[in-house]
Amino acid sequence: MMQEDMERVLFTEADIKAKVKELGKKITADYQDAKEAIFCVGILKGAVIFYTDLVRQIDLPVEFDFMIASSYGNSSLSSGNVKILKDLDYDIAGKHVIVIEDIIDTGHTMSYLRKILPARSPASVKICAFLSKPSRRQVDVAIDYCGFEVPDEFLVGYGLDYAGRYRNLPYVGVLKREIYVAPPLP
Ligand code: IMP
Ligand code: MG
Repeated sequence: MMQEDMERVLFTEADIKAKVKELGKKITADYQDAKEAIFCVGILKGAVIFYTDLVRQIDLPVEFDFMIASSYGNSSLSSGNVKILKDLDYDIAGKHVIVIEDIIDTGHTMSYLRKILPARSPASVKICAFLSKPSRRQVDVAIDYCGFEVPDEFLVGYGLDYAGRYRNLPYVGVLKREIYVAPPLP
């Protein structure tokens, strides 16, 4: 049971559903006059669950594309070294782009994308993050749409993983420290 690995639940399925609906409404209102479909860029793999829920709450045409960016590897510490492991399939010139991310932590990943995407001549670039951990920020990033601000704890669920696991939890939980900190030697 994955529930046993949780210290506590931070956001329930109902909390998340209400927040995603609210974000979708805001985006729908803001892009009402856009001449073209909104180009939704999901950052794999963490944002997948949030992405698929959010796009269904946007009542306007959208286009799908995805990137894989890595600054983390398999550890819970960020390196600040961002690599694009999979780039977009499409040209974003003239498009209204929304980058959809699971969580903004140090800010390195998003500030890198904020730098490289505008160079491709989109009509606009906005950032939508399900979660933000402001106390961990190392580089400043403006978040246009933010679901929840969260404390400095290691979170899993609703797309967020630890070592590739827990992404399929329908809620967001705080992972017990003993799961990711090695036990002391006897
Ligand atoms: P940043 O570049 O430090 O902002 O890192 C953002 C990425 O770090 C996210 O896309 C997540 O994959 C990962 N991350 C940051 N905090 C957490 C967490 O609490 N749980 C799981 N993944 C996290
Ligand atoms: Mg990630």
